[in-house]
Amino acid sequence: MSYVQGTLADDTLHTNFHRLTLEGIKYHSYQDEITLETIPEINGRVVLLVYNETRFFEKLKIKNTIEWVNLELGAVEMTEEKLKMSKAYFYVANKYDIVGFALAVRIEKAYRVVDSSSENAQNESRKVSKLQIGNDNDGSGIFCSTKPLRAACGISRLWVKRDYRRKKIATKLLDSVRKNFIYGCELKPDEVAFSQPSGDGKAFASQYTGTREFLVYAD
Ligand code: ACO
Repeated sequence: MSYVQGTLADDTLHTNFHRLTLEGIKYHSYQDEITLETIPEINGRVVLLVYNETRFFEKLKIKNTIEWVNLELGAVEMTEEKLKMSKAYFYVANKYDIVGFALAVRIEKAYRVVDSSSENAQNESRKVSKLQIGNDNDGSGIFCSTKPLRAACGISRLWVKRDYRRKKIATKLLDSVRKNFIYGCELKPDEVAFSQPSGDGKAFASQYTGTREFLVYAD
């Protein structure tokens, strides 16, 4: 993270970031939590907290986790209005360690990523009106079409702790979102939209949805 040394607010933020990086962020049991899955091999579980149906301390846990994830993603704070439409999915290991987190929100519309990797698509993409929605790991832009499509579920935040990556934790979190986000209706992988994806996010989303032209939306 970047910060200005000697500035009290930045120094405090940096110290907290450093401590959390070393210790990680913890999850304890809450009255309103819903355990979606237990993972005995790692003394772990996938837990759901529905923002609007929880009490003060659960809300605080969701907010603190988002704050922590925002630091790594460079994402901005979320409004209370957005939080009220959200469901938070925690992947907990070793009983208390949050090693994965997904925040899903209700959305109305999404846009398809324009895949500029194939020659045909490049020709096609020149005709499509498009907008930059994120940046890939190599610094190139991630673009989407400006044509809105109906969508119901957006992944606002997705994060897995560094030393737990490529172990299918994000996959498990998204499977839980698809099965539980809308009561009585299981979404298909390509029906889930991703907010401004990072390079890692794009690689994951392409693989998870089975298409490089997955859905995105503006948070
Ligand atoms: N590069 C290439 N392919 C990847 C990557 C990557 N960095 N990450 C995932 N994949 C693909 C792979 O095909 C992988 O399968 P494989 O390991 O068998 O090859 C498949 O997706 C499944 O990956 P998971 O193991 O389920 O993903 P993981 O648990 O590692 O989490 C995540 C992926 C969340 C993107 C993680 O890398 C991360 O937290 N990165 C930093 C934060 C971030 O960028 N989050 C996404 C922001 S976008 C948003 O929030 C909506």
